[in-house]
Amino acid sequence: MKKSLFLFLLLNFFLSSFSSAQAQSCTGETFSGNRPLYAFCNSLLYLRASLHWTYHAVNGTLDVAYRAPQSASGWVAWAINPSATGMIGANAFLAFPDSSTGAVTIWTTQFHSRNPTVQNEGLSFPVYNREAEYASGFYTIYATLELPANSTKVNSVWQSSTQLQNGEPSGHPTYGDNTNSKEILDLLSGQTTAAGGGNSRQHRKNIHGVMNAVSWGIMMPTGVIIARYLKVFPSAHPAWYYLHIACQISAYIIGVSGWGLGLKLGSESPGIVHHKHRNIGITLFVLATLQVFALFLRPDKKNKYRIYWNVYHHTIGYLVIILSVVNIFKGFDILLPANKWKHAYIAVIVLMAAVAVFLEVFTWIVVLRRRSKKSENSQHSHGVSGYGVKQNQGV
Ligand SMILES: *[C@@H]1O[C@H](CO)[C@@H](O)[C@H](O)[C@H]1NC(C)=O
Ligand SMILES: *[C@@H]1O[C@H](CO)[C@@H](O)[C@H](O)[C@H]1NC(C)=O
Repeated sequence: MKKSLFLFLLLNFFLSSFSSAQAQSCTGETFSGNRPLYAFCNSLLYLRASLHWTYHAVNGTLDVAYRAPQSASGWVAWAINPSATGMIGANAFLAFPDSSTGAVTIWTTQFHSRNPTVQNEGLSFPVYNREAEYASGFYTIYATLELPANSTKVNSVWQSSTQLQNGEPSGHPTYGDNTNSKEILDLLSGQTTAAGGGNSRQHRKNIHGVMNAVSWGIMMPTGVIIARYLKVFPSAHPAWYYLHIACQISAYIIGVSGWGLGLKLGSESPGIVHHKHRNIGITLFVLATLQVFALFLRPDKKNKYRIYWNVYHHTIGYLVIILSVVNIFKGFDILLPANKWKHAYIAVIVLMAAVAVFLEVFTWIVVLRRRSKKSENSQHSHGVSGYGVKQNQGV
């Protein structure tokens, strides 16, 4: 019985992954009216869109169909950029619902800035035909155009968004798929290459994400757990201190490298600023650097100022951990990796929190036992800080 249930689930899994792989292939897509199939098609890497085209070498024209999922109240766009990769300079076809009739409209427009007011205007190359339609969750844009400079390698850019203002397309998300959606397309072969180093940029964004999640988000909290829970045990002295320092210094080195990579990535896309993520990142760098240098100013444990230093060190330390976790989640929202990465990180945090709660309870039991034992032996000596262990505290 159990075995058949397992087989049934396994079969379902394969069938569903098979059908989703099918859905991503452009080859099965058909078009309305009596449109013949196009000579080529590509399933685009982002925004689940696809592009179909036929190139006519005799007169340098292109018949193209761009299809992308979107709600009927949103908009999609496909563009050729004759002068550069990306949005600035793009000559775009935009499909969206007419604000008064609701009928699908198609406009052509040229983008000269990052925050343009979209208008229906001529393109820098002749357009012989343009149409758009909406059916079962997908927009399709049809166009016939003359390729700029008869070039068979074109910078292609595409977009999809639900943001409209006064009934006209206006703005789109500036993260994830919506910033990666560009490529250089070879119309003769159907081969694509990443535009503007897009793939290596994506790769570096992923490296930035992994480095920072591991250093700020896992190693630093682990270092805090080591310090807080190991030092109660006299036998762990002074090992806890060196473990704590080793953990935090390596986390700091990896974290600052990941932070630097983040700043570099930010400086490479001047039009897009993730203000909160950037500001929290800079704050984290300042606070963590302060922690490292405060180490050299640490008063001796017999010094009366040592307690203030401890309060300072713990406050900044916990603040760094909280801000780190917040910023890692902000990073997830920008990078939009597959959900499994976010889930894995949540699992790690929950595990660390569970370990901390367990050790907290365990430690208090140890400390309280120790106290009652001590007060049996003598009537005084409760210690000054932490868990009441005056001896062996700190180094
Ligand atoms: C456009 O380029 C193709 C090949 O690159 C060539 O065969 C064709 O004659 C050119 N057409 C025009 C109109 O220049
Ligand atoms: C370009 O050539 C194709 C194929 O011969 C033809 O179908 C199309 O009408 C031509 N377009 C123009 C604008 O001349």
